[in-house]
Amino acid sequence: MPLKRKILIAGNWKMNGLKKDARSLAAGLAKKNSSAKNQSVEILICPPFPLLALTADTLKGSGIKIGAQDCHSQLTGAHTGDVSAALLANMGCTYVILGHSERRINHGETDKQIKMKAETALAAGLKVIICIGETLKQRKAGQTLNINRQQLRYSLPVGASASNTVVAYEPVWAIGTGQVATPEQAQDVHAAVRKTLKNKLGSEEGNAMRILYGGSMKPSNAKELLALPDVDGGLIGGASLSVKDFWTIAQAT
Ligand code: PGA
Repeated sequence: MPLKRKILIAGNWKMNGLKKDARSLAAGLAKKNSSAKNQSVEILICPPFPLLALTADTLKGSGIKIGAQDCHSQLTGAHTGDVSAALLANMGCTYVILGHSERRINHGETDKQIKMKAETALAAGLKVIICIGETLKQRKAGQTLNINRQQLRYSLPVGASASNTVVAYEPVWAIGTGQVATPEQAQDVHAAVRKTLKNKLGSEEGNAMRILYGGSMKPSNAKELLALPDVDGGLIGGASLSVKDFWTIAQAT
C-alpha cells in the first residue's frame, strides 16, 4: 500500500528580487496561507541570502517555511563569500536546496561536493533538497535514467532519511524554458528515482522520501504533474515570483 507523502511546494527565487519584492511576495503568501483551508501542503520559500531575514520576518506565524539556495560544505572558517549551514539554521531556515543544475553547471559543483554540503547541512539541523536532472543532450542520447540514478547515488548524504531529505528531479532542458516534462516523462524518472532510493535506503525510507518535480511548473500544468504517483511536490522558479501563480500551484493538489 503506497504511503501518503505530504506534498511540498517550494519556491526558488534564484537571484531575483529586491527588498520590496521580497516583502510584498512574502506578505501576499502569508496572508493567503493564514486563511487557507489546505494545511496538508507544506510551503517553502527560498530567497537569495540577503533577503532571508526580511522574508523570515514577514512570514512569521504564517506557517510558510523558509530555506536557502546553497551552503558551504564546512560549518565555519575562512571561505570568503560563502555562507554556512549553521548560519542558515540560525537565520530560521528549515531547508537548503543543494546541487541545483545552475550550481552544477555554472559553478562546476560535483556530486561529491553536493554530498559533502548535504552532510554538513544535516549536521547543522537543516533538511536538504537534493537536485538532479539530465540535459537535453543526455536525454537525446538515451541516458536520462542512468544520469539521474548516478547523480542521486553519489550526491545523497550519509544519514539521508525521509524526514531530513527531499529529492528534486529537474530536467535541465525544462528549467526556465517553458518546456515542461510530459507527465509520462516525469513519472518515468520519478519511478526510477523511487526505485534507487528503495535500493539505497531500504523500502520503507525509499517509499516515504519525497520526490519533487521542477522545470517550468506553472498553474496550467501543476495539477496534472502533482497527481502523478511518484511526484510529491514541486520546486518552482519563475512562477514562484508571483503570489497568484505560486499560490495556485500550492492549491493544485
Ligand atoms: P523554473 O525553475 O520553474 O523557472 O523552470 C525551476 C528551478 O530551477 O528550480
